[in-house]
Amino acid sequence: MARDPGRVLIFDTTLRDGEQSPGASLNLEEKLAIAQQLARLGVDIIEAGFPFASPGDFNAVQRIAETVGTPDGPVICGLARAAAGDIKACAEAVAPAARRRIHTFIATSDIHLEHKLRKSRAEVLAITAEMVAYARSLVDDVEFSCEDAGRSDPEFMHQVIEAAISAGATTINIPDTVGYATPAEFGELIAGINAQVPNIDQAVISVHGHNDLGLAVANFLEAVKNGARQLECTINGIGERAGNASLEELVMALHVRRSYFNPFLGRPAESTEPLTGVRTEEITKTSRLVSNLTGMAVQPNKAIVGANAFAHESGIHQDGVLKNRLTYEIIDARTVGLADNRISLGKLSGRSAFRARLEELGYTLEREDLDDAFARFKELADRKREISDRDLEAIVSEQVQQQDGGSFTLKSVQVSCGTGLQPTATVTLVTADGAELSEAAIGTGPVDAVCQALNRLAQVPNELVEFSVKSVTEGIDAMGDVTIRLRHEGVLYSGHSADTDIVVAAAQAFVNALNRLVAGGRHQPLHPQKAPLPVVGDLPLADRPRV
Ligand code: KIV
Ligand code: ZN
Repeated sequence: MARDPGRVLIFDTTLRDGEQSPGASLNLEEKLAIAQQLARLGVDIIEAGFPFASPGDFNAVQRIAETVGTPDGPVICGLARAAAGDIKACAEAVAPAARRRIHTFIATSDIHLEHKLRKSRAEVLAITAEMVAYARSLVDDVEFSCEDAGRSDPEFMHQVIEAAISAGATTINIPDTVGYATPAEFGELIAGINAQVPNIDQAVISVHGHNDLGLAVANFLEAVKNGARQLECTINGIGERAGNASLEELVMALHVRRSYFNPFLGRPAESTEPLTGVRTEEITKTSRLVSNLTGMAVQPNKAIVGANAFAHESGIHQDGVLKNRLTYEIIDARTVGLADNRISLGKLSGRSAFRARLEELGYTLEREDLDDAFARFKELADRKREISDRDLEAIVSEQVQQQDGGSFTLKSVQVSCGTGLQPTATVTLVTADGAELSEAAIGTGPVDAVCQALNRLAQVPNELVEFSVKSVTEGIDAMGDVTIRLRHEGVLYSGHSADTDIVVAAAQAFVNALNRLVAGGRHQPLHPQKAPLPVVGDLPLADRPRV
């Protein structure tokens, strides 16, 4: 049997695989905010990025390692292809973390060997041994993944896994890269590894899976029953194509159905000891933060974190007290931190009350950012009588989004529209070198007019592919939360903003998306799975692995 940590380890890859979702790219401050929240959530390992992808990605992994990788914090992990340059960059990026991991991978399915890697099985075996040994010479904690494990020949994959463990891998990850497996098959795959790989007792078995058939969570739960003890997942299930297995669904399945899963971990069914280290009350907040910062909305009927997941809580309020809530409810909304949307502050609240409430919500802002956020809060309080926690979260996530100092700052926006009028917008932008530019445009509606005027100023070709508005809270004075996605040269860029005036929110969201587009167009990061694998010779002689 594989090495057993005695519970299920949660490996969060929101910042790596999640960020590979189209349009979900994050700036440094956003990545740091998410990593800090993941630490509060209590995940065991954070996969912080793919350091070799670009200097920006390297820097983000390093900053997360420095700030979140404390001795009692999560393990900070970076991804590296099975190539010396990647592994070296990864080791350097995770170095500041007290507990650090290199996650290296190579494909093992024949279809990937033939068409992507153009390598023989013997070559893949040799590269695995060499690169895992190299990674292990740099850190003590090495994870190795057989990419496309779900479609690999099990016998060959067992040989590769055995070689990786002999070379020093401490975790073996089995990805269903294309989301093809069914639960019974995936369970058997894990059982087979446990039974057939002679040195498997020296490593933890992990699983990673995509949701192309909507089966990722079910596959993982079957894997746990067969000995997997690490689950690689993302907040809100974001990730490549249909996304990854969703963290909140896995954690809550293991929490709610603990007595069913306990025996598979050798515990009595009635044991109340948690199966994961996740603080479930942090789930809702983490979900909202990730959705706000990535611009990826959560579908209303999404399990655990969708707006309707606990809808009857408020819907049948009065009636509820007359009945037993267990008739229709398997999770108390408070378990995932949902029930408490406090009306926390108002017009007269001061800076210290504002800061204290933000800290209670888990946000600690530097002095300047706090000043900016407080100014936004005051503006909002002039227009909205009561400010709730959701409003504060919207203010802070906007603050974080704008911290990278983009190419354009929105100075003002004005529209005229109404019955019998041609919607017209006038906007003023300030450029990075301080120039003020104004432009006016007409459109089919006020938002269209604003976007046309902004496009005339920015002069960066793009196509608007998504515009969505939802209200942050209930009530006529609620803030409107706007998400915009722009496509430029086949790549998606998202922007997000909230304001009581949805035209202002739309203008700001558009500028945020434009800023990402301009920054992204300057340095497109390397895709870890699609870029060709470099050879050992990519590293200076002195740094080449000696194995
Ligand atoms: O889906 C996949 O196979 C991956 C690997 C890099 C682990 O993301
Ligand atoms: Zn993946």
